[in-house]
Amino acid sequence: MKATMNLEHISPLRRKLALLGDKDRINCIYKDCWINYSEVSSIRNAVRAVYEMPQKIQAQCILISGRPGMGKTSLFKKVESDMETLRKRNEDHRGYISFTLSPDPTLRSFEDSIGDSLGVPIGKIRNGLVPEALCRLAHLRRMRLVLIDEVHNLLNAGRSDQRKNLGFLRGLSSPPMSLSIIAFGVDDAAYAISSDAQLERRFQVYDLPRWKENESFRSFLAAYESMLPLRKPSELWRQEKVKMLLSASEGITDAIVKRITRGAAWSIIDGKEEIDIESLTKAADIPPYFDRVNDEGR
Ligand SMILES: Nc1ncnc2c1ncn2[C@@H]1O[C@H](COP(=O)(O)OP(=O)(O)OP(=O)(O)O)[C@@H](O)[C@H]1O
Ligand SMILES: [Mg+2]
Repeated sequence: MKATMNLEHISPLRRKLALLGDKDRINCIYKDCWINYSEVSSIRNAVRAVYEMPQKIQAQCILISGRPGMGKTSLFKKVESDMETLRKRNEDHRGYISFTLSPDPTLRSFEDSIGDSLGVPIGKIRNGLVPEALCRLAHLRRMRLVLIDEVHNLLNAGRSDQRKNLGFLRGLSSPPMSLSIIAFGVDDAAYAISSDAQLERRFQVYDLPRWKENESFRSFLAAYESMLPLRKPSELWRQEKVKMLLSASEGITDAIVKRITRGAAWSIIDGKEEIDIESLTKAADIPPYFDRVNDEGR
């Protein structure tokens, strides 16, 4: 029976996963996967372009903003791996710093996060000035970029700490370091950065908008479906399913992906092998632990 299965709806490299047992397939379904849709692809290209630019007096910076759950951290991780690939490929091995801003952002937490990212302490940040040790290290490692996730946490600091933090970021993006800051955060992030006019001018802002009923969303759904090890096509891009996914998720990626993956798990548990409207409706709830389903005599 397996030999005659038509798995053309699954991307070629993942087709063999559809031959695994039910429990293994459900595990695959819940693993994070990456879909490279047009908005994220342009942002990745913009960051690559900035990384390759010659060092400028005022570094070009980028802010990626979006609602909670739109996919900023997933994109941050992808950009990190893009930078790692470029770093290895380029002869001059340009470096980067990457960290997540702590919910309690003080200059001390900047020192710790940057020190952890570089693997060496960077010294004390006094009066928001970039420490000498960090400047030397940046020069030695040919540092070009600073990637910061959760940059909206800047707003959690008191007014005077906020000013010092912004002053420090301004210092990173000014000579002698002139690092390009690539920051990711919820919509408030732009507000945090715009409170420093000099810093604001350096940022190009990209938005990850909520999903709408359009070609881009249908392609995202088709691509997601091609990653799932189900034995029948679900055609998630059909209008009825598109409308249901949008109304159940308010256009937020996290909620859409949860609906699809839970719907896929339900479709295996129910023996349907395709995500139909009923599976998507049931996907409001987490499907039961698979062994228990078996134990209960399914
Ligand atoms: N490009 C993508 N391809 C596939 N799945 C994605 C993609 N982007 C986001 N997701 C899914 O959406 C979920 C939420 O994404 P993520 O954690 O990156 O959002 P976020 O914007 O950082 O949220 P928050 O604002 O709460 O930090 C991820 O766990 C992942 O399953
Ligand atoms: Mg995040």
